[in-house]
Amino acid sequence: MQNQIEQQDWLHMVDSIGNFLAPSMAKDHPNLPVVKAEGCYYYGVDGKRYLDFTSGIAVENVGHRHPKVVQAIKDSADHLIHGPSGVIIYESILKLAAELQKILPPKLDNFFFANSGTEAIEGALKLAKYVTKRPYVVSFTGCFHGRSIGALSVTTSKSKYRKYLQPSWLTYQLPYALPEYLPEGADPDVYFAEKLERDAQKLFNHQVDPEEVACMIIEPILGEGGYFIPPASWLKKIREICDRHGILLIFDEVQTGFGRTGSWFAAQTFDVKPDIMAIAKGIAAGLPLSATVASKELMDQWPLGSHGTTFGGNPMACSAALASLEVIHEEKLLDNTKEMGAYAIARLLEMKEEFPIIRDVRGVGLMIGIELGDPKTGEPSGKTVMDVLDECLENGVLFYLCGNSGEVIRMIPPLTINKEQIDTGLDVLRAALQKYSN
Ligand SMILES: Cc1ncc(COP(=O)(O)O)c(C=O)c1O
Repeated sequence: MQNQIEQQDWLHMVDSIGNFLAPSMAKDHPNLPVVKAEGCYYYGVDGKRYLDFTSGIAVENVGHRHPKVVQAIKDSADHLIHGPSGVIIYESILKLAAELQKILPPKLDNFFFANSGTEAIEGALKLAKYVTKRPYVVSFTGCFHGRSIGALSVTTSKSKYRKYLQPSWLTYQLPYALPEYLPEGADPDVYFAEKLERDAQKLFNHQVDPEEVACMIIEPILGEGGYFIPPASWLKKIREICDRHGILLIFDEVQTGFGRTGSWFAAQTFDVKPDIMAIAKGIAAGLPLSATVASKELMDQWPLGSHGTTFGGNPMACSAALASLEVIHEEKLLDNTKEMGAYAIARLLEMKEEFPIIRDVRGVGLMIGIELGDPKTGEPSGKTVMDVLDECLENGVLFYLCGNSGEVIRMIPPLTINKEQIDTGLDVLRAALQKYSN
């Protein structure tokens, strides 16, 4: 623990944070000064404990600093901190691949380990282009896949990410299955699949021949774009269109993976199997690790030298990932996610009846979005969300936000969360909603 003087120095640095950190790094909401994290809590420099309903943005699925994870990191640090894989080989990376094979859909069994979600996406796009020898990629409007130039070429969640950076690498977009496109009274299961068939046909007729499309990439649940859950029939239709034209399907499961939806992956939640998957965030309980995953048949067509990494598949991160998987199994966190998610959504739906500023509640497992509107106009409102989040923070609960204008509260607690903690968090949210309802 820091002594008093060091702590003051540090807080002084926080006050002049712009002298140290780029604004694009330092200014996300709420930039809470923290000294420690444990389980479902952050501990602030102000001495307060904060219930964490963000999981460090869907990373700490087994809770912060789970003792098993901490021990695994220490054990690894005692004998091996860095690879690089390829120059040397070590047990944790092979064991992790073997364990991941058991929880991923069949034939998604070969791994290129990297460090971040963005890198896993880059790998997926490169693999698809290399293997098919086709130049173009189709993504879905509103999806977020990362901020590097390659990942940005398929990211369309917010135009600000692309400002002055429009990718020179041409990609095409199809619309996501959003409720705003659904005509009144139409059945989403039928409507969106039929609409997709029409949209894809238009794209292939007018803009790009499907024989030139390497892959389609999608977030199986729209994350940063506002936590929208598409019908399974729509995702199955994407699979069908890809199969028809020899196009590879990539699922970006960076946010939906490792139990977040109550299954290991959203591919299982929706029963749709992609050809390539990008996984990251929840994989290693906070250490930087990610993977591009595909079948051995596909990976075998990606020869030595066509992709590489210095840090990817770091031994300590692989050890943390192995411990984290063990915790998810042992503590039956998939079951807990389904149970706690259903409980939270039921409570939130009750609140929706009570507070008209809640426009919508949607979620699968513990990936829950609460869309808020302006108390006067009812229109989606980022300002109302910010007011409510600040009030919650003041009362010890940290939520995150998403949606094109920040109009959705993201509730993504660790999968270890219990009923009492959900109640505590939602009671605080309820009081904040009451305060900002008029
Ligand atoms: C769905 C999705 N894909 C990709 C990324 C990029 O991951 P990273 O920030 O680890 O590079 C994110 C990050 O939020 C994400 O949510």
